[in-house]
Amino acid sequence: MKRYITTLLLLLASAVCGRAQESGVIVPKYGSEPLKINSVEEWEQVHRPVIMNFFEQEVYGLMPEGQVGITYEVLSETKGALEGRAIRKEVAMKIAGIDTPIIILMYLPANAKGPVPAFLGMNFKGNHQTHTDPDITPSPNAPVTKGDPERGAASRRWPMEYIVENGYAVVTFNRDNVDPDEDDGFKNSVHPLFYAEGQTYPKANEWGTIGAWAWSLSRVMDYLVTDKAIDSNKVAVIGHSRLGKTALWAGATDTRFAIAISNNSGCGGAALSNREVGESVEVINRAFPHWFCDNYNKYRNNEEALLVDQQGLIALMAPRPVYVASATLDQWADPEGEYLSALYASPVYELYGLQGLTTPMPAPEQPMNSGHVGYHLRSGKHDILIYDWQQYIDFANRHFGK
Ligand code: GCU
Repeated sequence: MKRYITTLLLLLASAVCGRAQESGVIVPKYGSEPLKINSVEEWEQVHRPVIMNFFEQEVYGLMPEGQVGITYEVLSETKGALEGRAIRKEVAMKIAGIDTPIIILMYLPANAKGPVPAFLGMNFKGNHQTHTDPDITPSPNAPVTKGDPERGAASRRWPMEYIVENGYAVVTFNRDNVDPDEDDGFKNSVHPLFYAEGQTYPKANEWGTIGAWAWSLSRVMDYLVTDKAIDSNKVAVIGHSRLGKTALWAGATDTRFAIAISNNSGCGGAALSNREVGESVEVINRAFPHWFCDNYNKYRNNEEALLVDQQGLIALMAPRPVYVASATLDQWADPEGEYLSALYASPVYELYGLQGLTTPMPAPEQPMNSGHVGYHLRSGKHDILIYDWQQYIDFANRHFGK
């Protein structure tokens, strides 16, 4: 195992040095500092590939290159939903080799004059938890969700009426139907569909659960580009907490996402890892060994060894807009670490002549949303609430020209 890890490290180092030599650019250890890059060209040709390679090999794991058969079937499309405000649409995404279809729930603004922009994000415990609408098909139960989750139980997190009234579609599906959120050896997930012959577990540099969830967001995006009701150039990928980590990784790996929004994503998401605040790389890997790739374990109590901290993940969105949000009582997610990460990614946006963050962390309820890197700190707990959505819609309105 040790020899394997050493070989991987050598391979990574030689890939990094190879690229650097070709371009004549010395790749620094970026660490937990502002990213100081000289030009867009250097960013795109040297640093971005190096940083992407690092996150693929060492943090979230590589997504598979192969493809599986996926079909999409519109199950229903009903006008008059949400008291006349919306069209409710359900689409079954069937992945060959997975028994249970993933049901994509969509609310589209009623009376839209053309294709609309959308927010796409996974939900934790089923589509029917996102709203009390009695006609939402319950997401098939997943092993980690005990019992039948109550209809509408998570509706505070999904202000559907508000979103559609602002001219946006909401698109959501249950993360557990892609890969149940438990350390089950990836037995019930999409991972085995891509194993090489004889393989029974992802390799040390291959995707974990966050990788699989991000991959599934891209597979839903594959559907959205075919749906005439959606303006697929204006899809914001969004997620709360572990799903915020996932939204950032999805935005980094799939440039079709026009905006990425991380709500209280914390460790392994927006927050810098190399600070002794809140959750650490050690704790997250112990509690959730399935989220990241096995290589990430090398950084337990060893964060200074990271080639780049999480500001590198945020910068992978550039020049597309990115938004990070924290909550005052969510110390586990290290609000300041989340802010600093967005601040330290900002110089990359500035290379493109775009406005990033430059000032100290704002007070609660003082959103910074005028540039391409947005941030706000909400008073209160770890959650995603109407206040957060109001800021995301403001931010999306600016960038989508609404
Ligand atoms: C735990 C975990 C966090 C995660 C959060 C969530 O608190 O430690 O990393 O973000 O769950 O997803 O709600």
